[in-house]
Amino acid sequence: MRLAPAASIAPSKIRAIAALADEFPGTLRLFYGEDTLPTPDFIKQAAHAAIDADRTYYTPNPGYPELRDTIAHQYHQLHRVPIERDQVVVTASGMMAIHLAVEATVGPGDSALVVTPLWPNFVGAIQVAGAEAIEVPLSLNVDGFHLDLDRLESALRPNTRMLALASPGNPTGWTASLDDWRTLVAFCERHDLWLLADGVYERIVFGSGSSVAPSPIELEAARPRTIIAQSCSKAYRMTGWRIGYAIAPPEVAPTLAFLQEYAVSHAFGVAQEAARVAIRDGDAFLADAQARYARHRDLAVDRLRQIDGVQVPVPEGAFYVFPKLDGLRDSVPLCESLVRDHRVGVAPGSAFGEGGKGHVRICFAVDESTLLDGLDRFEAGWLTFRDRGSPS
Ligand SMILES: Cc1ncc(COP(=O)(O)O)c(C=O)c1O
Repeated sequence: MRLAPAASIAPSKIRAIAALADEFPGTLRLFYGEDTLPTPDFIKQAAHAAIDADRTYYTPNPGYPELRDTIAHQYHQLHRVPIERDQVVVTASGMMAIHLAVEATVGPGDSALVVTPLWPNFVGAIQVAGAEAIEVPLSLNVDGFHLDLDRLESALRPNTRMLALASPGNPTGWTASLDDWRTLVAFCERHDLWLLADGVYERIVFGSGSSVAPSPIELEAARPRTIIAQSCSKAYRMTGWRIGYAIAPPEVAPTLAFLQEYAVSHAFGVAQEAARVAIRDGDAFLADAQARYARHRDLAVDRLRQIDGVQVPVPEGAFYVFPKLDGLRDSVPLCESLVRDHRVGVAPGSAFGEGGKGHVRICFAVDESTLLDGLDRFEAGWLTFRDRGSPS
């Protein structure tokens, strides 16, 4: 029997390394984007209370009204823009927010520009929708990653309907300034594109003196064409809870809500209640988490700078380093040998697009001893791999 075209989409290379790591017990797991610490107690307690209060029935497709109001209020506080409840759709994960946004705006015969290196699920979601994803790489120089408007302009096709990107980015940590967003929004206006802006890491930013990254929603011109994808996974250590949300123009949000009916109907009510409390009461927790990740980032960057043949762009946000390794064209064989021979798992850069091929992604949200041990193992593995003459 013939499967549908979606079945031929490439599986995630991050998951492939994770599966290999499962065969080698003791492998340090620096390939996933999650903290080793558990969900904070105040969030778990909210979930216990929600179970006791029987928040276990079907909920409305766009989520409980109280949670939508809490999200609207937080976005207003953070980004100084009025957001109404009817613009907020609670989704069963950030991935679901991306998926619904894509499903509502692009389809067969359309293309979407994706600023890479980027978490591969954007390209996957666009392909599942039957559209074509066109990669537009950030440029990399000694100061780090930068947006390249010329590349965006020249990647456009007559059938392009959307521009998708994440800021702060996974895996690069590149973070758009408000001026970058102005440029991107003007580009979208000029070519009448939807803007899918992922802000999943917006509360994990370093060195800017702010507790949140700039968002395109702050720009009036962006609002009619912008869908924000958000999640509680990274900010509140809730990766397994599968809870996120989208913020969309009021006339688009109901479409995302009814499309969710045909996937999972809605997010789990208990997770919604936990998210409401996380967002309402989580500011002190977020400040501590941000300080912790800033320390880990500095540790990781300093340690990697001591390793021969490694160039490390300093991430401005999120919790990954994405070093470039001299002479390496495809990092998959290196990542496999790191697991097999050194018991450390990192994600191959090629998982994130063409521009990532000679890189690896290392998550520094793990506890400090795992991080330092992992970087020691990475150094040993990389130098052995390189000295064997393996970079290819
Ligand atoms: C940029 C980005 N967006 C969205 C997500 C999805 O988050 P979740 O589906 O766990 O809510 C991730 C997860 O790694 C991510 O890195």
